Amino acid sequence: QTGMFTYDPGFTSTASCESGLTFIDGDEGVLLHRGYPIGQLAEESSFMEVSYLLLNGELPNQGELNKFTHTISRHTMLHEQLATFYRGFRRDAHPMAIMCGVVGALSAFYHDSTDITDPTQRMIASHRLIAKMPTIAAMAYKYSVGQPFLYPQNDLSYTGNFLRMTFGVPAEPYEVNPVVEKALDRIFILHADHEQNASTSTVRLAGSSGANPFACIAAGIACLWGPAHGGANEAALNMLHEIGRPERIPEFIARAKDKNDPFRLMGFGHRVYKNYDPRATVMQKTVREVFAALNVSNPVFEVALQLEEMALKDDYFVEKKLFPNVDFYSGVILSAIGFPTTMFTALFALARTVGWVAQWNEMISDPEQKIGRPRQLYTGPTERDYVPITSR
Ligand code: SDX
Repeated sequence: QTGMFTYDPGFTSTASCESGLTFIDGDEGVLLHRGYPIGQLAEESSFMEVSYLLLNGELPNQGELNKFTHTISRHTMLHEQLATFYRGFRRDAHPMAIMCGVVGALSAFYHDSTDITDPTQRMIASHRLIAKMPTIAAMAYKYSVGQPFLYPQNDLSYTGNFLRMTFGVPAEPYEVNPVVEKALDRIFILHADHEQNASTSTVRLAGSSGANPFACIAAGIACLWGPAHGGANEAALNMLHEIGRPERIPEFIARAKDKNDPFRLMGFGHRVYKNYDPRATVMQKTVREVFAALNVSNPVFEVALQLEEMALKDDYFVEKKLFPNVDFYSGVILSAIGFPTTMFTALFALARTVGWVAQWNEMISDPEQKIGRPRQLYTGPTERDYVPITSR
């Protein structure tokens, strides 16, 4: 064990750390958070309850949940100086660029008061990050559309507060739609944590040096932005719009199979799942519920359903075990709720923050934890002597 990564010269080990938060069986399409199946949590639980579970290891009783939710609500506001920070961005800045900047800037406000060796201060920092992400994301959206920021309203639920800060305006009252609130809360549950994915590994590696949690989460946000990772939800909806109608699906499936074409079906395939991503199952069901409740339809959903059906009958996708992942349907719902595609990954980051901080806490609280130091298989030149420039 060299610190948090296991390096064995005999083979490239894939185990990067020990963790008790999330279990994935990629072949069976199983995802458990502290032992509870994601399907049950998505149906029965709330994002605040799942956040408590990830942070503390057990589902809360009502008193514990009320206390946790109240504590989180007390950290939803952002320092007024940070509201000014937004004004340094171009209006058309991608919300993920703003999220990286503003979350990193939280270090300037809390770094000195966050002694990461103190479990209480680690939990306060975790609560601050979970609580402020909706405010930061909503402000990024407001800034992009030139509307005034709305302060949090803590008598609303965590998710209801975010919806109001995003879509409410000072000029009129905002009614949270309970169907939308429930669907978005479920989407947050589906994105809360996912074992040692790229962005979580980034947060762990950054945290292993002792960096403050705000800087570590900013690093995680940067990694999540990539189209191969959290940026896939934005790319998947853009792809569905580009396909436009079912008749064009075969053309895109052919492109995805063409090794000379860099195009991939966004929202399909996974590093771990070689079966259906259980989150995609819940996501597809949620699309139907939201569309029925909002009485909306969107041809893009029909394209998504037919694309999935055709791909899963195609030998290439069957042999390579490529199934829809969590990002395939999420954009269809988020778009129906009213979010622009540029906000999709910001919502992923909002939800994944609890997983990132829970994994960070788990690592930092391990007294044996050392700085991560991945090694390499060297492929450069063997040792050689310097050649003066006059001889080159
Ligand atoms: C997330 O790790 C996590 O847990 C991530 C995540 C989380 O919650 O944190 O689940 C969230 O990031 C989900 C993934 C979102 N990304 C996308 O949907 C982008 C599209 N998918 C891919 O680019 C791809 O599937 C990856 C990046 C997700 C995985 O890529 P890999 O590691 O190359 O996948 P693989 O090894 O299983 O690929 C096997 C083969 C390869 O072809 P060959 O080299 O064997 O010829 O399948 C091909 C790949 O080229 N392939 C695809 C494909 N995905 C893989 N071909 C066409 N379309 C695709 N989407």
